[in-house]
Amino acid sequence: MEVIIKSSYEEMSKTSAQIIAREIKKKHDLVLGLATGDTPLGTYKELVRLHKEEGLDFSKVKTFNLDEYIGLDPLDKNSYNHFMWENLFKHVNINSENVYVPQGNTDDPEEFCSWYEKKIEETGGIDLQILGIGGDGHIAFNEPGSSFASRTRVKALVKQTIEDNSRFFDTEEDVPRFAITMGVGSILDAKKIILIANGKNKAAVCAEFIEGPITSQITASALQLHTLATVVLDDEASSKLKRKEYYNWVRDNKQTVQKRIGR
Ligand code: F6R
Repeated sequence: MEVIIKSSYEEMSKTSAQIIAREIKKKHDLVLGLATGDTPLGTYKELVRLHKEEGLDFSKVKTFNLDEYIGLDPLDKNSYNHFMWENLFKHVNINSENVYVPQGNTDDPEEFCSWYEKKIEETGGIDLQILGIGGDGHIAFNEPGSSFASRTRVKALVKQTIEDNSRFFDTEEDVPRFAITMGVGSILDAKKIILIANGKNKAAVCAEFIEGPITSQITASALQLHTLATVVLDDEASSKLKRKEYYNWVRDNKQTVQKRIGR
């Protein structure tokens, strides 16, 4: 796992947007896996800037979102579909037919989940998956205990996630208790993964998933099993890492390192 530590949230966001932009320029029909939440807001803002000011072209890009609350209409202001349109899609030249977000109000969630998996496969699989991390170490809505082999499915949210996400709703009771989520196995199938995290409240869980043992109790630790996973943190989120000096050395000597390891 490559660990990149930046001085601030803004720098973390710029770095992750640059990584995404680089991949889009290399492959115009990139299949991008997307996350919602507070963390990627700066990244999406920077991608919008790159599109508006530097012509970053999304016209052939396909996107698959990680998750969606069950029971919410796609137009509901708290749906992840609405979040994506407000914060990214409506500001860039993406083709709406290339945008996939799990459908929270489907009549048959199980059938929808199989369809979603098949759709990802039909496009050739996700080239680059963007992830955030929950306070309990979840990626997407893969709560502690989720199998590393899990695929897109319905998941019951844990109490901490319901509490964490209640900030977006009028009351905690309004937070849906279930979500459709890509599985850990679906995420690990992505060709490249980038996880971003910021803030003091993510420091402990970041140290655990990067430097601790691989465990389904912290599903982000599954990234240790991936060959091309990059983690971009701000200074606060990196504050409990033990091997910071090494990660920074690799960063400062990146060209030499890349020449040697060809990455
Ligand atoms: C959302 C998602 C979640 C979030 C995580 C962190 O699509 O996949 O796993 O990434 O809950 O959320 P924030 O960024 O709001 O701290």
